[in-house]
Amino acid sequence: MAREFRTVGVVGMGTMGAGIVEVFARNGLQVIAVEVDDKAIEAGRKHLEVSTGRAVSRDKLSQEDADALLARIRTTTSLADLADADLVVEAVPESLELKAQIFAEVDKVVRPDVVLASNTSSLSVTELAVRTGRPEKVVGMHFFNPAPVQRLVEVVRTVVTEPDVIDDIKAFAATLDKVPVVIGDRAGFIANALLFGYLNHAVKMYAERYATREDLDAAMRYGCGYPMGPLALLDLIGLDTAYEILETMYAESRNLMHAPNPLFKQMITAGLLGRKSGRGFYTYE
Ligand code: CAA
Repeated sequence: MAREFRTVGVVGMGTMGAGIVEVFARNGLQVIAVEVDDKAIEAGRKHLEVSTGRAVSRDKLSQEDADALLARIRTTTSLADLADADLVVEAVPESLELKAQIFAEVDKVVRPDVVLASNTSSLSVTELAVRTGRPEKVVGMHFFNPAPVQRLVEVVRTVVTEPDVIDDIKAFAATLDKVPVVIGDRAGFIANALLFGYLNHAVKMYAERYATREDLDAAMRYGCGYPMGPLALLDLIGLDTAYEILETMYAESRNLMHAPNPLFKQMITAGLLGRKSGRGFYTYE
């Protein structure tokens, strides 16, 4: 019988984690959201309030529904509070060791049949699975930024994932009005493997002063129908996150297409991370 997911745990309330929490809460699920400390919880809540507030101001959501949505989210700093979860999705920064530690800990807290999912963009789901006592119940559940808007969810299966786990997660994603695709455990999965060579190439063209940032972005928006140009998109993703993704893909494939352009490192060191730090290729209020 298919699993039912009523209460979902989300570990991490950064850009992706908070977006994923919103997706679940919007769909009527109870959410237990875990962050490291009260400051991080506050930042996550603020993200959710801004996002739901925008929906209210655009008449897409009533104030009553927005309040009910936020009331479905319980926040905590303790992974032990995930004991009641029917599914746990981890969305902490892209560090294999950090994620592996969380998987090992969550594994001890939740019921044995509970599926553990990672929102990792490019790290190995298999490496996370083997850190638990239930490797056959560990999958990737990779959302796209902004999670409440982008409909794709990459469901990552490892060589040991049970087929019924994949079926249940696919069916669950569809109930969230998402479009699930299934992919094996390789760095970058489908979308990032195709997208990041293009983004890296755009940074190279910009670094070589081949064209201005505005013209690079305009070319792809108005010539190819992309919703955003590559440099604006990198600001949305975060340059630090993009750099990690490129590094991981390059380490696996040694494909020069994925060797991060040196400008990434320079901008990251200077604190120009994109929207989240107020400045990347562009400056934000
Ligand atoms: N959270 C929630 N909702 C958001 C949002 C956010 N951060 N940003 C925008 N929205 C909503 C708006 O509220 C609006 O909703 P309604 O239509 O219901 O009113 C809708 O999205 C459109 O927003 P805007 O009118 O403000 O702006 P837009 O039409 O220019 O769209 C965009 C903004 C959705 C970001 C669009 O430009 C877009 O799709 N860009 C491409 C994003 C993309 O490629 N993402 C994938 C990145 S790669 C990745 O995520 C993988 C990884 O591992 C790094």
